[in-house]
Amino acid sequence: MTQRTFFVKTFGCQMNERDSEIMSQSLSMHGYVEGMDLESADLVILNTCSIRAKAEQKVMSLLGMLRKVKLAKPDMQICVAGCVAQQEGEHLLERMPHVDLVVGTQNIYNIGELLDLARTRPGYVAVAMQENYDIPRLMPARNEKISERLQAGDDVKLSKSAVFRKFVTIMQGCNNYCAYCVVPYTRGREISRKVNDIIEEVKVLVESGVKEITLLGQNVNSYGKTNIVTENGLPCSFADLLHKVAETEGLARLRFTTSNPKDLSDELMRSFRDIPSLCPQFHLPVQAGSDAVLKRMNRKYSVAQYLDLVDRLREYCPEIALSTDIIVGFPGETEEDFQGTMDLLDKVRYHGSFSFKYSDRPGTRASDFSDKVTEEVKTARLMRFQSRQDEISLERNREYIGRVKDIMVEDVGPESLKGRTDTNHIVHLHEHVVAKPGDFIDVEIYHAGQHSLKGKIV
Ligand code: 5AD
Ligand code: SF4
Repeated sequence: MTQRTFFVKTFGCQMNERDSEIMSQSLSMHGYVEGMDLESADLVILNTCSIRAKAEQKVMSLLGMLRKVKLAKPDMQICVAGCVAQQEGEHLLERMPHVDLVVGTQNIYNIGELLDLARTRPGYVAVAMQENYDIPRLMPARNEKISERLQAGDDVKLSKSAVFRKFVTIMQGCNNYCAYCVVPYTRGREISRKVNDIIEEVKVLVESGVKEITLLGQNVNSYGKTNIVTENGLPCSFADLLHKVAETEGLARLRFTTSNPKDLSDELMRSFRDIPSLCPQFHLPVQAGSDAVLKRMNRKYSVAQYLDLVDRLREYCPEIALSTDIIVGFPGETEEDFQGTMDLLDKVRYHGSFSFKYSDRPGTRASDFSDKVTEEVKTARLMRFQSRQDEISLERNREYIGRVKDIMVEDVGPESLKGRTDTNHIVHLHEHVVAKPGDFIDVEIYHAGQHSLKGKIV
């Protein structure tokens, strides 16, 4: 019997990317082999995102397209995983009856068994969520060293950096209930993984050649606060965890995401000064620059408190490159409120930001708020915001001109090279360089664009 092939298509955040890896690994252990594309695979998994209406629409239109593919290939299985699956559950089948399996965010670890069940009972739904559970331990495969696979000329994917930079999930869920956000509903209650499981996973990755690890959680500041994470039952804060992970021999770079400013501790801020491998880069979503809007968003901090955090971070780590998330047009946002967001932008001068028009999500508190902002106003505000951010990003990037930065190589061409700085800036070189992905090289920056830098070898 030939092995069934699978293809996973991932939407949304890094958490989803990591979950897709987990499902892929689980499927490989279950006898499936990774296929080349969506249309030819025997099993297609869409790992979905529902953070904004647009993300969800993308999933629905792809599912519509897959209906036709499946008509011509009745043996094909279609599985919907992730946040849309969790949110919609069996309702998804009403609109998309050709879906074989709906698997929720906490159920991905048994994907192999669930698919077997769905073979005899197509339209199987597994979206049960638990309040308190041990996030299953699914260690990354102890495969041969990346360097050996590279030498053997293995796999196109290896020419990419992805194998040297990996995500490790340290916690799931969220207890914050920001008024606009679906995450508490799609990812459940906050729960932290055990310290030892995390350390072990990082070790396995680094031993196989990984150079950079990003620790993932919806709100990493509250790591270890809702359940016991140590053998002896003693507390372990997120900063403690960072110190422990940083001890892993051979780990060159450590990053993390995401933090809620409301419980960003001084201890965590000091980690940027005290842990050499912790990259001077911090994503600190502010969402809005108006106290009234922040209050209605249920963010639990004020603009002044946020600015104070920024000052302290820069005191501990003057190099730090800050980025943020912004929502424009939250219900009730006035022109004056929005001007507060623009002012904040000029005060903080972020290296970069992700900005979004507010999108109503079913089940969230804000979806019931009156005084919704019109689409036209949202679009205009988003454009104003983004064009100012682009100017600031360019000014920020120009500060690197003339400086020497250590980059980790990601891609090498005959006459070009792409790498990444500790501050998370992409640097392009337009010259022949003897280097391979995963190497660290010193480059001098001579040009800055809005989204990347140019450098030459020193
Ligand atoms: N509408 C628009 N943007 C949203 N985000 C979260 N929920 C919504 C929503 N309903 C944004 C926030 C968050 C980022 C991941 O997505 O800025 O930080
Ligand atoms: Fe999207 Fe949030 Fe789910 Fe990530 S956790 S996939 S951002 S809805």
